[in-house]
Amino acid sequence: MAETAIRVSGLRKSFGPLEVLKGVDLEVPAGRVTALLGANGAGKTTLVSILTTVLPFDAGTAQVAGFDVAREPAKVRQAITVTGQSVTVDTVLTGQENLAMIARLRHVPKPKQIAAELAEQFGLAEAANKPAGTYSGGMKRRLDIAMSLIGQPRVVFLDEPTTGLDPAGRRDVWAFIESLAAAGTTILLTTQYMEEAARLAHTIALLHGGVISAIGDEAAILRAAGDAPDLESAFLALTEEARS
Ligand SMILES: Nc1ncnc2c1ncn2[C@@H]1O[C@H](COP(=O)(O)OP(=O)(O)O)[C@@H](O)[C@H]1O
Ligand SMILES: [Mg+2]
Repeated sequence: MAETAIRVSGLRKSFGPLEVLKGVDLEVPAGRVTALLGANGAGKTTLVSILTTVLPFDAGTAQVAGFDVAREPAKVRQAITVTGQSVTVDTVLTGQENLAMIARLRHVPKPKQIAAELAEQFGLAEAANKPAGTYSGGMKRRLDIAMSLIGQPRVVFLDEPTTGLDPAGRRDVWAFIESLAAAGTTILLTTQYMEEAARLAHTIALLHGGVISAIGDEAAILRAAGDAPDLESAFLALTEEARS
């Protein structure tokens, strides 16, 4: 059986009277891509923030890379990286400087060399010596993802990595996620796009109504939606009451 990289059981989280997570159960296998799919406001970022030790939770248990999120947050943080919805790139620094800075923070040997290699790999070699503030949205996102790969994290969290990108930028980011996945990194990505989940993920977990309401490969999600004809209608059917 495959190793489990993330194990979540009965996880609950409220913000005041608003119950966002109502008992989330989720197992994410190591070395695979799992997509956490959910409508805007479903609680995807809340779950990612809990798993990355940024946000406390009310009940349940969560382990990441074999460490307990509540009791061993420092060990969890060493094993993971996270790329959030708001890009974390420093716009004054150049692309190369952003990458090298992260490499130094993560105590990676030869930070400058790693920075140059990643810039090349992410199609940023030409722009590497320009301030990141001059980059397009797609370039910034690529730089952000490149930064998240430094130090070979065991688990990479990508929170809506393509939201706000144009189609070309989205395809670029998809290609990078695919190559990362091919190298065997465990990836949990969140998305509002069914198509993106189906294309990138081995497993799709639908977060709806505060729980994982459906999980499996694309065929399993179509079945869960009562044999929906396509992914778009499956997503609409499975998230219906949220919008009514
Ligand atoms: N810090 C917070 N305080 C109060 N409410 C919050 C906070 N963070 C998120 N929420 C609410 O929790 C719900 C889930 O938010 P979020 O996890 O960001 O959803 P998603 O990432 O799926 O769009 C939303 O209704 C949001 O307004
Ligand atoms: Mg979010």
